[in-house]
Amino acid sequence: MTNTNQPRRPRSGRSVYLAATVCAIGALLFGYDTGVISGALLYLKGPLGIEDNAFLQGLVTSGLLVGAMVGALISGSLAARLGRRVMTLIAACVFAVGSLGAAFSPDVLTLVASRFVIGIGVGLASVIVPMYIAEISPTRIRGTLTSLNQLLITTGILLAYVVDYALAPWEAWRWMLGLGVIPAVALFVGMLFMPETPRWLASRNRMDEAREVLERTRAPEEIDEAFEEIEAAERQAREEAGWRDLTSPWIRPALTIGLGLAVLQQFVGINTIIYYAPTTLTQLGMGEAASIAAQVGIGAVMLLFTLVAVRYTDRIGRKRLLLAGSTGMSLSLGVLGILTLIVGASGSTVAVITIVCLATYIASFGATWGPIVWVMLPELFPLRIRGPAEGLATCGNWAANFVVSLAFPVVLAVIGQGLSMLVFAAFGVVSLFFVHHLVPETSGRSLEGLETELHATPKEEAPGQARS
Ligand code: GLC
Repeated sequence: MTNTNQPRRPRSGRSVYLAATVCAIGALLFGYDTGVISGALLYLKGPLGIEDNAFLQGLVTSGLLVGAMVGALISGSLAARLGRRVMTLIAACVFAVGSLGAAFSPDVLTLVASRFVIGIGVGLASVIVPMYIAEISPTRIRGTLTSLNQLLITTGILLAYVVDYALAPWEAWRWMLGLGVIPAVALFVGMLFMPETPRWLASRNRMDEAREVLERTRAPEEIDEAFEEIEAAERQAREEAGWRDLTSPWIRPALTIGLGLAVLQQFVGINTIIYYAPTTLTQLGMGEAASIAAQVGIGAVMLLFTLVAVRYTDRIGRKRLLLAGSTGMSLSLGVLGILTLIVGASGSTVAVITIVCLATYIASFGATWGPIVWVMLPELFPLRIRGPAEGLATCGNWAANFVVSLAFPVVLAVIGQGLSMLVFAAFGVVSLFFVHHLVPETSGRSLEGLETELHATPKEEAPGQARS
């Protein structure tokens, strides 16, 4: 007989890793579809003939962001009603339809519409994937597993850059856009075999099934405690919350923190690099081939540092990592901005400092704000309102992304490279104060335990008691 009573770190059932990884294919699609367009845009010629039309190019790019806002907004309440697993299956279908539509578009309108549809898939995935992983994971490794979301977003972006680069000689933009269908099918087939989250099952009063899933995903010694916590959280809040509950005072602190984190993640300017790096680098005097290679390098640095987050989010804690990230981003952007303003953008020393600062900035974001915002969003909201609240905060993230991406080329033209960097550095400083004053530490705490603390309001306003 084997001795299982040794005082060792509990080991979770293997299937929790598998479930998290399969669901995170949705994040790979998020990354691939947002990253692929920068290369594909260069070749949208022929019958579509938009290579000289900045407005239509803008529509093709931002169509996805508008779709993502819609997807994020509708995902929450649908996930509450249909479950996290079914919503992931729906997202996979939306991705597949959008990718095929984009690949076979006969005209610009169909392409813009397809990008909008892909955007809906991206919006759904950006809410559902972190939610599914957070809810299926044991507290101990929740941060690590939820960081997989950003790890696969970044992998998807890098993959898109590599595919763009590889297919560039054939100008094969239809293939670039269409290849997204492969991970979409993989996500669909994979999720057919994955379980629903125990927390959603409990919220539908399907306690036996919830317990079954816990038995598959937890170490034996963790099952009872996890089940009791979920049951207790359920007893406290039997009634399902809806959109109107988002205005209740008890949810306000969490909503402020969630929306603040989501919006600031975009206002520090990361996507001006992800979406525009080659253009900016060629403007700084780099050749076209070198700037595409540099973009692959940027993706690789980001991926490398996201691995740091996967390893340390649970050990070091979310708050400390966010503070370190804000500091790193503000300093590197500040130095870069001042340098550009004083010395200008030429000279080899300046080029070296620029590359060091850019790498520091990307590493700082990649190890902290990139993954941790997605890790924290599902942690901040109680189960009964998690869907709509996380959906709203994520919609804020996409709206901020849209504003920054659309405004950046204009702002750049008006105030120049140096001042633009300083504006983003200033947002880095704002993010530092925001985290320092408002954001609680969530690592090592059960989702149910967090509920009690974040929503400690006067008795008469407490969730579940208000209307019972
Ligand atoms: C985060 C951001 C996303 C960005 C990505 C870069 O996921 O939310 O907008 O493109 O990081 O890795």
